[in-house]
Amino acid sequence: MFGGSAACRTLRPRPHSMPGSSFRSNVANVLVIGTGAAGLRAAIAAHQAGSEVVVVGKRRRDDAHTVLAAGGINAALGTVDPQDSWQQHFGDTLREGYFLADPRVVELLAREAPAAVLELADWGAPFARTADGRLDQRFFGAHRWRRTCYAGDWTGRAILRTLTSKVADLGLTVIDDQYVSQLLVADGTCFGALAFDLETGERTVFLADAVVLAAGGHTRIWRRSSSRRDENTGDGMYLALRAGCRLADMELVQFHPTGMVAPEEAAGTLVTEAVRGEGGQLKNALGERFMARYDPERMELSTRDRVALANYTEIAEGRGGPHGGVFLDISHLGKDAILEKLPRMYRQFLEYQMLDISREPMEVAPTAHYSMGGVVVDPDSHATDVAGLYAVGEVAAGLHGANRLGGNSLAETVVFGRRAGEAAAEYSASRDLQLRARDVVRAADEELSSFIRPGSEFARPLQRALRDTMWEHCGVVRDQAGLQHGLDRVAELRQLAGEVDVRPSSEGYADLAHALDLRASLLAAEATLLGALARRESRGAHQRRDFPQLDTDLRVNFRTRLDGTSHLTIDAQPVPPVPPDLASWTQSGEVLGVAGRLLE
Ligand code: FUM
Repeated sequence: MFGGSAACRTLRPRPHSMPGSSFRSNVANVLVIGTGAAGLRAAIAAHQAGSEVVVVGKRRRDDAHTVLAAGGINAALGTVDPQDSWQQHFGDTLREGYFLADPRVVELLAREAPAAVLELADWGAPFARTADGRLDQRFFGAHRWRRTCYAGDWTGRAILRTLTSKVADLGLTVIDDQYVSQLLVADGTCFGALAFDLETGERTVFLADAVVLAAGGHTRIWRRSSSRRDENTGDGMYLALRAGCRLADMELVQFHPTGMVAPEEAAGTLVTEAVRGEGGQLKNALGERFMARYDPERMELSTRDRVALANYTEIAEGRGGPHGGVFLDISHLGKDAILEKLPRMYRQFLEYQMLDISREPMEVAPTAHYSMGGVVVDPDSHATDVAGLYAVGEVAAGLHGANRLGGNSLAETVVFGRRAGEAAAEYSASRDLQLRARDVVRAADEELSSFIRPGSEFARPLQRALRDTMWEHCGVVRDQAGLQHGLDRVAELRQLAGEVDVRPSSEGYADLAHALDLRASLLAAEATLLGALARRESRGAHQRRDFPQLDTDLRVNFRTRLDGTSHLTIDAQPVPPVPPDLASWTQSGEVLGVAGRLLE
């Protein structure tokens, strides 16, 4: 089919060896990379559309990052606030994202989230219900109405369990412990991925007509992060860039206002927005309910960027607590209600700090939480720039703009997971031949082998150094000098990363994964720093000390790509217009850079 490549008819997914190779191969119509909610929902959709599907993930399938999503999933069901509508959900999302989101993506999310959430409930998701049996909805920050469905403060886990059991019922193949080192691309078409087993090191070439990348974001590259070790390292973004995709909005990183501050090993762990949704109050060391100074109307339920910047400012100006945080108090709710609505928070603080949150406030500070940018995708199908490759969930750009509304990410996983899975299946069905470019597979295999060698450096300290760099120079508030320093430091770390010692042993192949994660994180960091330098304004989560105002001319998405010499280049693309029939829903409240008010 292509020069230098062999092609064959699409086969059913079963492991077999590729002639002349030392690795196994596995053939499917659709390969899904990632076992979080987006990946599993895509897999279900592709299967239901008639494809043979294989799903691979780094972690155990019931422990993907989705389990950390706590407070809820948005859908304009109007259960408790009947005035709500999908149009209002559209307006809130676009406006509070400072008009950098793609309006078509936002429209699809708002229109389709109600059906997607009801479907999850039908499949057994244990969402909280009202007395008359409908899905209950709680307040989340900056939503005009209560539209966040929830299962206590463990909504992500509830959804992941539901999807995992649906996938099992459908008999889909899910393979855990697979680290994908490269997407396989020939002549602009993706035909699979090379992966190795984190325990045994065994390599598998996954061949497929279409690939859905659902591999998460890059927020673990900040010192304080709500992600766990070895997840959200930017590996999904790296894979996409290397395959030939563009990334957009990498500088737009959401800092959740409330992460734990102690003990050190738990610092950054999420303290869900549901605490504020249930009435939690933020106070500084002087006992002041300081949100009155930053957003007197919405107070603690202001947008995340505003609350994060408020917390940051209180701490920076010396009104923080003993561990460098501010205080979040929910004790007035009472222990019974806390145990019902926030059971995980209750246990989290007992376990880590021996603190009873029904009696005492929590100390919290901003933590890197969500990549609002990512792979550039077509709004409807989530197809990328590379034929046969789709991207969905946190790895993709388009929905959130400069500030994500809490609860929209879980909705995104199921709405666009379904769309991407269906599109991938349709693409697969349209193919008569399955591409297998043996030279591409061989090169990917050789590149992976090249990482296994003795060296003078170790990946873990370099990962730590990168996280410190990003926290210090590309954190809640940024400036030109710091960002430039960050870029210089990334270049130094890249040199050192070339010397990393990787010698797998009976202890497994984690060292190899760390070295690859480091490579990916460095590229994701560089893309982020370049975007942050280019965005010479303050907007939403991107706050520039040296450009404290929003610049209306910068209603653009900064896009990065790898050029032929493996350098990142960046350009600016205007955001598509808001459809005239929906424009009125976006018009309320101010949309201004807040750094001007808070930092000058
Ligand atoms: O605070 C939270 O529960 C986070 C929710 C989200 O990021 O959507």
